[in-house]
This record gives sequence, C-alpha cells and structure tokens, in this order.
Amino acid sequence: MKERLEKMRGEFTAQLNGAASPEEAEKVRVAFLGKKGALTEVLKGMKDLTPDERREVGALSNTLKDEFEKLIAARMATLGRVEIEKQLAAEWQDISWPSGLKRGAAHPVAVIRRRVKDIFISMGFEVLDGPEMEEEEFNFNKLNIPPDHPARDSQDTFWLTDGKLLRTHTSPVQVHGMLSHTPPFKFIAPGKVYRNEAVDASHEHTFHQIEGMVVDKNISVAHLIYSMKTLLTGIFEKEVEVRLRPGFFPFVEPGFELDIKCLICGGKGCSVCKQGGWLELMPCGMVHPNVLRHGGIDPEEFSGFAFGLGLERLVMMKYGIDDIRLFHGADLRFFTQF
Ligand code: PHE
Repeated sequence: MKERLEKMRGEFTAQLNGAASPEEAEKVRVAFLGKKGALTEVLKGMKDLTPDERREVGALSNTLKDEFEKLIAARMATLGRVEIEKQLAAEWQDISWPSGLKRGAAHPVAVIRRRVKDIFISMGFEVLDGPEMEEEEFNFNKLNIPPDHPARDSQDTFWLTDGKLLRTHTSPVQVHGMLSHTPPFKFIAPGKVYRNEAVDASHEHTFHQIEGMVVDKNISVAHLIYSMKTLLTGIFEKEVEVRLRPGFFPFVEPGFELDIKCLICGGKGCSVCKQGGWLELMPCGMVHPNVLRHGGIDPEEFSGFAFGLGLERLVMMKYGIDDIRLFHGADLRFFTQF
C-alpha cells in the first residue's frame, strides 16, 4: 500500500503538470481527491490493515493529501493567471488610439487669416463681421456702383430674390462699418465672398477676402502704403517692396493695384512673376467721397483708405501654389503640408 501511494504521487504530479487550464486541473483533483478519487479509495481500504500499518499509511496519505491540495492550488493559480493574461492579450484595447483617423490641420486660408488679423489687431484695428447674404444696396449702390454701372459686370453675381444677393466682395462691410461708427475708426472685415464664375486654376465661385478701412482727418496714400507694408512684412516674414499702379474701382478715388516685388526672383523676372518682376497683390485706394457720404461721413472733414485683400491669392503667393481649386478640394496630400 505504501508503494501504491508513492506511485500515486508520481502519477498525480504528471497529470497535474499536464493540465492546461483550471478546468483540467479540477479534473485531476477529482480523479485523486474526489469521493471516488484514487487517494480516497486507498483510504477506504485502510480498514483491512493492521493498526501499525494503518498508522503509517494514514500518516503518509494525509501528507499526500496535503501535498496534493497545495500543488493543485499552486497549479490553479498559475493556470488562472495564464488564462487572464491570454484574455488580456486577446481583448486589449488602446482607448487613446484614434481608430486609424489621421490628425487634422488648420486650413491654409484659416492660418493666413489668423495672421492677418493678428497683425491688424496689433495696429489697433477692430475686427468686424458682415452678412454673406447682402442687399443690392450695400453690395453695389452705396459703394457708388448704380444698377447700370459697367463695374457690375466684373462681379458676376449670384442673385437671390427681392434684390438680395450673395455678396461679391467684403466691401459692403465698409458701409455697415461707417454707419455704425463715428470717425476716427479703423477696422478689418474678413469673410467669404461669392461670384458666379466658371471655376479654373485662378477663379473660384467662393473665396475669402479681408476688407480694411481707415477713416480719420488727413488720411493720405502714405498711411495706406505704410499699413500695407507692415502687413506684408508680417506675412512674408521679410522686407517686401511695394508699388502702386492705377486701378479702377468705383468706391475709391484714386484707386490702385498694389504690387509686391516678386519674392521668388527678387524682381529680376521669373516664371512666377511672368518675367515682370512684380506680382499684383491687392486692390486698394482712397475712399470715394460719395461712399463716405453714403456712410454718413462728411468728406470735407474726413478722408480714408480701403483695401480688399484676397486671401487665397495671398496663400498661393506665400506657398507657391498654382491652382486655387486645391483649397476646396479634399486632397489630404495638399492640406497636410501646412
Ligand atoms: N472690393 C473689391 C473687389 O473685391 C476690392 C477693393 C476693396 C478695391 C477696397 C478697393 C478698395 O474687387
């Protein structure tokens, strides 16, 4: 009987080590320590032994029972841990992982708009907002563009009903600004504008402008040039040379096209400036007396300048982009560069 018990220890250890899960270890426990288990059976046979043998076998089987129980508990713990680790490995999720979505970036037009705003705010300008759905009165008439004026042709308009339209430029905010302010004042008005135009590499039906207006006593072209140079130096992060050419807009007199010396070739002539050495950047001018009057301002007492900065154009120049359609496209290869 002693031999049987010794042999059982070996069998037990082998089976327990072979158990690959807590369930299998439990089966081993039942097979040895259960009601009909191998060790239990041995104990049942003890009644046939002599008292001496009984004492000896009894002691040994008690030791075995203790030993088996400890081994089972240890094996169970190991197998349980393995089980948990397996589960953790299989079900693990990184909740901070954005499920394959790429991180976004600010649109280049938004980046430039923010910079332009910051520069003007640092010069003491107020930032105004205006409606995108405008009255014909504000988009045209009050800006010295009466119904039969040829300048309307250059701003192909999306007409709505009742003389309403989608603003073709941010200049109507000049009128709103004059009516809500008393001079002296200076403000900018960033926003979206719309033109009923065929889209190509340099024309979009929807784009962005920043209007600017300064009204005070004795405002002159020199103030205009100074403000524009400050803006452009801030945007291009280097000294830029500017020049004014005559430009026609009914709401300014005199009106100008402001050019900057080509940033690529420094004025020598290259493909970007089409060999001219200068790039047309921004229409501007001294506010027309009629426009001041429509804004309730006496042109005898006050004068002002205004400008209309095309943001897409500015971004295109800063980054050397040659197709305006990219801005409304969905090509992430373009957008992730900024
Ligand atoms: N509003 C004009 C345009 O969009 C630009 C402009 C603004 C010109 C202010 C002069 C002064 O075409």
